[in-house]
Amino acid sequence: MRIAYLGKGGSGKTTISAGFIRHAASKKPFVLAIDADVNAHLSTALNVNGEIKQLSNALSQLCEHLKGKRTDLGDKPMIMTTPPSLSSTFVRCHENDELLKNYALRQDSINLLTVGKYEPTDVGSACYHSKLSGTVSLLHHLLDGKDDIVVVDNTAGTDTVATSLWFAYDMHVFVVEPTAKSAQVYKDFIALAPEVADQTFVIGNKVEGSEDEEFLRSCVSADKLLGFVPHSRHLKRFEQGKVEALQEFQNEQTLLFDKVLYTLLQRKRDWSLYLKRLRSTHSRLCRDWYDAYYGQKLDEGLDEAFTYEAVAG
Ligand SMILES: Nc1ncnc2c1ncn2[C@@H]1O[C@H](COP(=O)(O)OP(=O)(O)OP(=O)(O)O)[C@@H](O)[C@H]1O
Ligand SMILES: [Mg+2]
Repeated sequence: MRIAYLGKGGSGKTTISAGFIRHAASKKPFVLAIDADVNAHLSTALNVNGEIKQLSNALSQLCEHLKGKRTDLGDKPMIMTTPPSLSSTFVRCHENDELLKNYALRQDSINLLTVGKYEPTDVGSACYHSKLSGTVSLLHHLLDGKDDIVVVDNTAGTDTVATSLWFAYDMHVFVVEPTAKSAQVYKDFIALAPEVADQTFVIGNKVEGSEDEEFLRSCVSADKLLGFVPHSRHLKRFEQGKVEALQEFQNEQTLLFDKVLYTLLQRKRDWSLYLKRLRSTHSRLCRDWYDAYYGQKLDEGLDEAFTYEAVAG
């Protein structure tokens, strides 16, 4: 099941994602963590060290891999919303998965993928969505099962709704500071994407006292408020190099992360709704942009027989 952390810039998305990933990894044999922010800090927050391969630098290799043996594309390019075919290669949450073996940084049960940052050649011409495209394709080819945990640390704001990621997750968690501006990002999101409002939750972060809690309760309905993370001095100590402080923060949040994990595992994915949304988003993107750019109708002739149920097993 896939959980996405979202929220206003600086609200604590990466900190809370990392805490949750570490918690899930202590309970589950395989956790796929994705740093989907071009300002990549998840490895640092996780204290996971090693060589990071940036997915955005491997777009053509990713597409070639995911295309597998499909023939329905002909000479058409694969874009980030191209629905899979029965002959595509899929990604599975498993230590032997070819793509994850190549691109994920592994530490214990955490497998970390990183979208990657802007390069000097991107200055003035690249957009966030172009950086993200390989990761979006990967998620549309990911056959994660009920017990697999996939955690995505997203970029700030409501940008997710402008891509096919809006329906790619089973659960959204907004990290909200006790301020009106921070709460507004959550409210904007559920207004923009009411279809996923029911699966969208809030964690109040950097909370100092009952006044902050009251404020957050006034912004978020009780059934959507998962809990509060206090303003913690351990985090600054960790960022000042005291590695043990991270564990102290972690220990204090066990109950909350348990609740988040439990809520995530209660979710049920409707693969046919997922595919319907992917196909319609793809057609819209083709009509609005890509058909004209490539001079071809990119949503025609695709494998109509494909269903996720047929390959998910
Ligand atoms: N509960 C907390 N108590 C104290 N400091 C916190 C807390 N949560 C996060 N922080 C601190 O706030 C800062 C921003 O946190 P973080 O990087 O997780 O936010 P973010 O939402 O991911 O930011 P960005 O929008 O840049 O990705 C960091 O210095 C982090 O240590
Ligand atoms: Mg962040």
